[in-house]
Amino acid sequence: MSDTSTANGKVVVNRAMSLDGFIAGPGDSMDWGPVRLADHAPDEFADIAAATGAMLIGRRTWDVGDRMEAEAPGSVDYPFSGPMFLLTHRPLDPPNPEVTILTGDIGRAVATALDAAGGKDLEILGADVAAQCLRRGLVDEILVYVLPVLLGDGIRFSPPGLARIDLEPISSTRSGAVTILRFRVRK
Ligand SMILES: NC(=O)c1ccc[n+]([C@@H]2O[C@H](COP(=O)([O-])OP(=O)(O)OC[C@H]3O[C@@H](n4cnc5c(N)ncnc54)[C@H](OP(=O)(O)O)[C@@H]3O)[C@@H](O)[C@H]2O)c1
Repeated sequence: MSDTSTANGKVVVNRAMSLDGFIAGPGDSMDWGPVRLADHAPDEFADIAAATGAMLIGRRTWDVGDRMEAEAPGSVDYPFSGPMFLLTHRPLDPPNPEVTILTGDIGRAVATALDAAGGKDLEILGADVAAQCLRRGLVDEILVYVLPVLLGDGIRFSPPGLARIDLEPISSTRSGAVTILRFRVRK
């Protein structure tokens, strides 16, 4: 376990993925099911949200969520109301008092957000941000909701260049059309 995880909750990379390894389709499209996870796997989704104490979010994920919310209000609702940390080099316009902006060293950002999670898990959102965390050995678990679709193109689970990381299966469950896979990251 990392130093950041011993006295705290876990650092979890949590995401919906197509069977061919994409977390968003071409043009950041999210119309293939991930925003309906609460319908697909309501119990698991609620349990996972309840175990989450804070979120660390990449700026592109934030901007795509904003766009989706503008196009379809309520479409990115998530049953989570804890602290949110946004990794970005640019201020939000307009500012959002519910979000803390962090920039720079990923290790410090994870430590800050994990501390704010109050003993619960820290959820990492965004492929680029997750890859930075994986590269630095900061991730404890990966939780993937596999949806029954091949997207063919889009945003991959992780950007090219991430070195091999070995995982240990924790669980595999099925809820309706969704297969939920949980892995521990070997360190
Ligand atoms: N399927 C799912 O469950 C799921 C979950 C999350 C996201 N997604 C999708 O994934 C895509 C976004 O992922 P992504 O990999 O493209 O981007 P991302 O990880 O969300 O955001 C990357 C951006 O965050 C900022 N950033 C990253 N590290 C930083 C640091 N250390 N300091 C300061 N700023 C930092 C930079 O933005 P600036 O320099 O511009 O500030 C960077 O370009 C979207 O399509 C989204 O919908 C899918």
